Amino acid sequence: MNLSSKVLSMQHSPIRKFNPIAQKAKDAGKKVYHLNIGQPDIETPPCFMEAIRGFDENVIAYAESGGVTLLQDAISDYFKQYNMEFGRDNIIITNGGSEALSMIFISLLNPGDEVLIPEPFYTNYHTFATMADGVVVPITTTPEEGYHYADAQKIEAAITPKTKAICCISPGNPTGNVLTLDEMKLIGQVAKKHDLWIIADEVYREFAYDNREVTSFGMLKELEDRVILVDSVSKRFSACGARIGCIAAKNKELLDNLMKIAQGRLCSPTVEQIGAAALYKLPKSYYDEVRAEYEGRRDVVYEELMKIPGVVCRKPGGAFYLTAKLPVDDVENFLMFLLTEFEDKGETVMFAPAEGFYATPGLGREEMRIAYVLNKKDMARGVELIRLGIEAYNNR
Ligand SMILES: Cc1ncc(COP(=O)(O)O)c(C=O)c1O
Repeated sequence: MNLSSKVLSMQHSPIRKFNPIAQKAKDAGKKVYHLNIGQPDIETPPCFMEAIRGFDENVIAYAESGGVTLLQDAISDYFKQYNMEFGRDNIIITNGGSEALSMIFISLLNPGDEVLIPEPFYTNYHTFATMADGVVVPITTTPEEGYHYADAQKIEAAITPKTKAICCISPGNPTGNVLTLDEMKLIGQVAKKHDLWIIADEVYREFAYDNREVTSFGMLKELEDRVILVDSVSKRFSACGARIGCIAAKNKELLDNLMKIAQGRLCSPTVEQIGAAALYKLPKSYYDEVRAEYEGRRDVVYEELMKIPGVVCRKPGGAFYLTAKLPVDDVENFLMFLLTEFEDKGETVMFAPAEGFYATPGLGREEMRIAYVLNKKDMARGVELIRLGIEAYNNR
């Protein structure tokens, strides 16, 4: 008996890899500040639970494969506030943004087809692409340039006859980079010229700071036939466990074929869709409050990081992540040191090493990703522990 070369070529999540070591540190009595995973601590809006409590059926039946109309309509209305028109027929409800991405890759890629993704990128893209027999081709960006990639030359250098799509995560995980509408237009022009699909992963759409406009590839009419939006309740509404997301697109042929996969997996959870519909109906003030909270945390993290000599990082504009280059030889070794040898007043800290967010071997060894999903005081202490840890590590 053996397993497929496909599954064997996949990687375990680099974000979770150090969890057993962190657990050992905790078992030994240390407090560990978890800055490693994008699980928001902000309360899920109570309307989600209220809507579920109001679910008054005797049988939890399958929903339509494309989704519960109540939710599709709520998402449609949500898009309207940004002048984007996606009707029921343009929206397929999925099990989180993750399933949306798997479905999209399966629908677009033949074996060996390439998807351009600016690196560093959300690591699970490796898994989604491999499941679809596709290949991730990175557009390499650097901390020194603030992980900038909206550059036609840079993008075109990575295009080959096998390139099928470009994937943009904005606001970005792990970099916190936010594309302006002009940058989206520029990427759109390259995509048009080379006849590429644009997969726009916008699960952090509202988390754009410093008075940045909320931007979306869905706002660009000239691209509507090639743009595929990925959305999710996970981050925006602190509802990761609900597992509800969606694909929004205008291209009818694509939607029709995506539906074959949606029908194959029958439906997304019926009850959670009812809860999610309530979330999408929240007023704009909800986004303003959550945005202000994350922006404040971003400021604290950035300020504390800048106290560490040798750190390379541009202030990120969105999402709730920050990637930075640290003045250590190897970030994974440093993290191991933090979890096994270092402590300050019985406390230590954990982040995600950035190497796993790169496709190019060897890149990211000096970088870490922080998720600012704890309150400001804990974030400040977490970054202080990184600073003290670097001193201890480099003085060993
Ligand atoms: C950029 C990005 N896309 C998609 C996802 C998938 O999220 P979910 O499946 O919970 O919607 C995540 C989760 O961290 C993410 O960061």
